[in-house]
Amino acid sequence: MENYNYNNIWKENLFRGKSCLITGGSGTICRQQAAALIKLGASVAIVGRDTPRVDSVVQDLRKIIPSSLRDESKVVGFGNCDVRSISDLQKVVDETVTALGKIDFVICGAAGNFLSDFNHTSTNAFKSVVDIDLIGSFNTVKAAYTQLIQNRGAVLFVSATLHYYGVPFQAHVGATKAGVDALSNALAVEFGPLGIRVNCVAPGPIGGTEGFERIVPDVSNFESKIPLQRVGRTSDIGNATVFLFSEAAQWITGTVLVVDGGFWQMGNFNNSDQYPKILKQKLLEKPKL
Ligand SMILES: NC(=O)c1ccc[n+]([C@@H]2O[C@H](COP(=O)([O-])OP(=O)(O)OC[C@H]3O[C@@H](n4cnc5c(N)ncnc54)[C@H](OP(=O)(O)O)[C@@H]3O)[C@@H](O)[C@H]2O)c1
Repeated sequence: MENYNYNNIWKENLFRGKSCLITGGSGTICRQQAAALIKLGASVAIVGRDTPRVDSVVQDLRKIIPSSLRDESKVVGFGNCDVRSISDLQKVVDETVTALGKIDFVICGAAGNFLSDFNHTSTNAFKSVVDIDLIGSFNTVKAAYTQLIQNRGAVLFVSATLHYYGVPFQAHVGATKAGVDALSNALAVEFGPLGIRVNCVAPGPIGGTEGFERIVPDVSNFESKIPLQRVGRTSDIGNATVFLFSEAAQWITGTVLVVDGGFWQMGNFNNSDQYPKILKQKLLEKPKL
């Protein structure tokens, strides 16, 4: 996990007394969002399906609790929770409240992804991405809703930039993340009068993640295509998360904060070497239903 010193930028103990529930918190990006909040004083609960993975990330995150808050801040994890199941999430929310006392912030980061052209994407595969990323995000907010009302909390969805243009091999994720943005916008309007803020962070290509390594084998050539000349770091998303949960963003709701070094403004360079020859070959193979 990237070791980034958030205290060089943000006020010490900025989130002291705050608690955050993070789905996908055992994954590469969301564990860094957890780390950012913990280093600035928050308590955190992370959620995933793979219990040993969740437990191991919890052990790592406990090591970065600020020494002055060792007796106060907590990091807990809940494995065996599938965001497609509202009952799994209700149980996790109850257990989080028991362990941390309350939930102020919610990050909906759990997601599934794979590269697949339309012809090789089965209906079930498409549906499973929608179920995890979109319905799972809805379920997470649903389960935490009472806590969000009680604590005038804030929600952060984790989106992407794939739906800003037509990205081949990613129709399932693009369609799903477009839905996440729409959900975020609508909930921002509905929850505003309750004092609950709802925003999205949209990461561009983040180095060191499984998804990125699958899509981009040659990083050096790729980096020159990004206006700010480097791939993203997980701490770039950590910093965006801190900003959007902080008092500095108290009048910001219903926004999508793109954190991508300006990449999406360049148009779609993803998979350009596979377009159109390899894509066309795949589209003309025997269809998968
Ligand atoms: N990587 C990038 O460059 C990039 C770019 C744009 C957007 N994003 C977004 O950023 C977020 C994190 O991406 P990442 O690359 O860090 O992903 P990752 O490492 O693959 O992590 C995904 C996390 O989601 C959890 N998860 C998946 N399915 C789940 C389910 N059904 N129920 C509960 N948890 C589930 C996984 O844990 P289990 O498998 O144990 O359940 C894991 O903790 C995602 O929303 C992704 O779409 C990433």
